[in-house]
Amino acid sequence: MHDFSYRDGVLHCEGVALTELAARHGTPLYVYSARTIREHYRRLDAALAGLDHRVCYAMKANSNLAVIDLLAREGAGFDIVSGGELFRVLKAGGRADLCTFAGVGKTREEIEFALQEGVYSFNVESEPELAFINEVAGVMGRKAPVALRVNPDVDAQTHKYISTGKSHNKFGIGIDRILGVYEQAAALPNLELRGIQTHIGSQILETDPFVEALGKLAPIVAELKARHGIKFFSIGGGVGIIYHGTLASGSSDWWESGTDPKRIGFDDYAAAIRPLLEGLGLKILLEPGRSLVGNAGVLLTTVLYVKQTPAKSFIITDAGMNDLIRPALYEGHHEIVPLREPSPETPVRNVDVVGPVCESGDFFAQDRPVADLSPGDGVALLSAGAYGFVMASNYNSRRLPSEILVDGSRAEVVRERQTWDDLVAGEKIPGR
Ligand code: LLP
Repeated sequence: MHDFSYRDGVLHCEGVALTELAARHGTPLYVYSARTIREHYRRLDAALAGLDHRVCYAMKANSNLAVIDLLAREGAGFDIVSGGELFRVLKAGGRADLCTFAGVGKTREEIEFALQEGVYSFNVESEPELAFINEVAGVMGRKAPVALRVNPDVDAQTHKYISTGKSHNKFGIGIDRILGVYEQAAALPNLELRGIQTHIGSQILETDPFVEALGKLAPIVAELKARHGIKFFSIGGGVGIIYHGTLASGSSDWWESGTDPKRIGFDDYAAAIRPLLEGLGLKILLEPGRSLVGNAGVLLTTVLYVKQTPAKSFIITDAGMNDLIRPALYEGHHEIVPLREPSPETPVRNVDVVGPVCESGDFFAQDRPVADLSPGDGVALLSAGAYGFVMASNYNSRRLPSEILVDGSRAEVVRERQTWDDLVAGEKIPGR
């Protein structure tokens, strides 16, 4: 489900008209629905009822403090990948002891910080990292809780940049070597072997890759429990979302399992994985990112110019690839809809929707049929709640956009738009 729909001809997020937010706060502007995020969390949690589990939101997808706060209140833990993300969890009032710390390149400073704050587990990606965490923990006189990330060598059937579970990817320790590396880890005095972790990729739209990975891993996980007394199995994130036809047929409830053959809902996912996990007698951790927040956010932008060339029509918007990089980086598709509902008579034209950044890769759509747009019209790029703002940059010295959280009929600014002074904060000219 999601909470974006036309009401009286105007696109709304929950009870708030997006035209009003665009007018009051300017564009580009990210808008998130609190209700959608909460609902997604609750649906996933409910789908897993009866299984001892914890949802550790992969906050890399959207790490605004307001989003962390909202999910912490629901009871979520967090999957973090940097000291900065742990800092955000603590700032928002979240608990370090519900955090798992992933990533292939943890620094001494980050490991010390995470040990100090008492994270639930370090998800370790290599033997050298294992040795280093052991050393840092020893200096601090602590035992570091660790899980090894195992790479199951399965094809997640997704874009190559977001596939992580094949043996040629940089992530994890190969399934054929994992038992041996646990033996090595068991010999290190400052580590506690607490669990095992895997993650095969992102935007996965079928259950098969998950089932294949868990099927391969379940016997190994059982063996590790017997040998080392591990307590949890984190199965990663990766459940995909719909990016096409998001507002179709006026229904906002395409999220249900089985309503779209091209995607899986939480119920399908839970039903497929449950039999593989139930008998293990371990706490199951999940690390969903995109599936909780992706369809809960939109990026609002305004049409600046309509440029006609002999070859093409370009709709030039005030948002660019620096605000939302997914189309440029992953050929990601985001629906583009006008904030004012077009009438059935409005002509539809094939256009390129592009930003102002000086790169040919700065586009949101190419040769896409879009209802006629004019300068000044507001449009929304849908399904931009995950990997949207968090991947935004200051490229071309463009200011980071503002973010708004809507809850019912309330809309709150949860991040101010950067000022031009912010752009040069911390910079110095030598000698001045
Ligand atoms: N756990 C680990 C260890 C991960 O690396 C990731 C995502 C997740 C969980 C969450 O995966 P999700 O449930 O969101 O699929 N920027 C890309 C996606 C990169 C995903 C990176 N890792 C995009 O915009 O498509």
